[in-house]
Amino acid sequence: MIKERLFTPGPVPLPPQVIKALGQQIIHHRTPEFTNIFLQTREKLQKLLNTNRDVLMFASSGTGAMEAAIVNFFNEGDKVLVINAGKFGERWRDLGNTFGLNVIDYQIEWGKTYDKDKVNDYVKSNPDLKGILVQHSETSTTTLHDLKFLADVSKSLDDCLLVVDGITSVGVYKVYPEEIGIDILITGSQKALMLPPGLSILYYSEKAEKRLEKSKLPKYYFSVKAESKKQSKGQTAYTPAINLIIALNESLQLILDEGLDNLERRHQILADMTREAMKALGLKLLSENPSNSATGVFTPDGIDADKFRKDLLKIGVRVAGGQDHLKGKIIRIAHMGYFDYLDMIEVVSAIEIALYKNGYNVEMGKGVKKAQEIYINNV
Ligand SMILES: Cc1ncc(COP(=O)(O)O)c(C=O)c1O
Repeated sequence: MIKERLFTPGPVPLPPQVIKALGQQIIHHRTPEFTNIFLQTREKLQKLLNTNRDVLMFASSGTGAMEAAIVNFFNEGDKVLVINAGKFGERWRDLGNTFGLNVIDYQIEWGKTYDKDKVNDYVKSNPDLKGILVQHSETSTTTLHDLKFLADVSKSLDDCLLVVDGITSVGVYKVYPEEIGIDILITGSQKALMLPPGLSILYYSEKAEKRLEKSKLPKYYFSVKAESKKQSKGQTAYTPAINLIIALNESLQLILDEGLDNLERRHQILADMTREAMKALGLKLLSENPSNSATGVFTPDGIDADKFRKDLLKIGVRVAGGQDHLKGKIIRIAHMGYFDYLDMIEVVSAIEIALYKNGYNVEMGKGVKKAQEIYINNV
């Protein structure tokens, strides 16, 4: 028997409290009982994002909230700058194009982050920008993009919104939109919020709210105005993902009990353990500015990453591969959400075994030792 351990950057493992909540008999949503749970959950989301403003939940995967961010706050022809540094940057671009926005596609080599001078150049020649769209953590390349600089740039313009996909950063970092200067922040359930897929979440600022009346793009299911009216009173416009919301109430409690400072620190240590162990084994990281949600690493020359993933699975570890031109070249190891320190020792150990079995000249235990040292020095 081999146990399968999930180390993919979404979905991620579920805590027992969440599994228990999901296993309960369903309740009806048009009841005071559900309203009470919904309002509790909404308040916890506000705590997570350190805001008193509206934080909406949609029954959809994360992409639904991305679409909501476009159709509720923009108009056809609006000029937007997309920081496109990977698969999900491409999604902002494609969504913008789908709804007729005037997209400036700032393409960045996968694994790198944006260049501040380039952003300044784009902004200088396009002072009429209505939005800057970015991933906080670009999961396809495991790269973190700094938001503060973009927030300052956005504020310097007449009427520009900073739109952030925080799908793999909320619950890993303290992502406080009001402090950072984010106008629209979206996230999804199946990452650091430690739930199955099916819920997406959207925050919008006071500045963004002013756009709601002006936006004429078609919307029905993803209407922020319709949902806002209902959700502030503990109901949703359509049938909500009842059990996922009940489970979110539990997972947010775990996050708030840990505390956002501790949570951020734990993710930093998990990421450091993984990254430093990979480097100790002589492997090269993909990202020049890695995110603490997952680590992307090249397999050595001559070892196909997808075959390597199958080898890892035989040992009991499921990691993700690369997308598009990175397919067969990298593996991605998650450490967001329900992970602790020994989990990382486990995955590093499995990688050492798989490297050895593939004939790579590996000093067994070198990566594990590095991860252990980081644990000892930090916890
Ligand atoms: C950064 C980022 N954005 C968007 C998405 C798309 O979310 P979903 O697959 O839930 O629609 C993902 C999913 O992996 C992601 O990691």
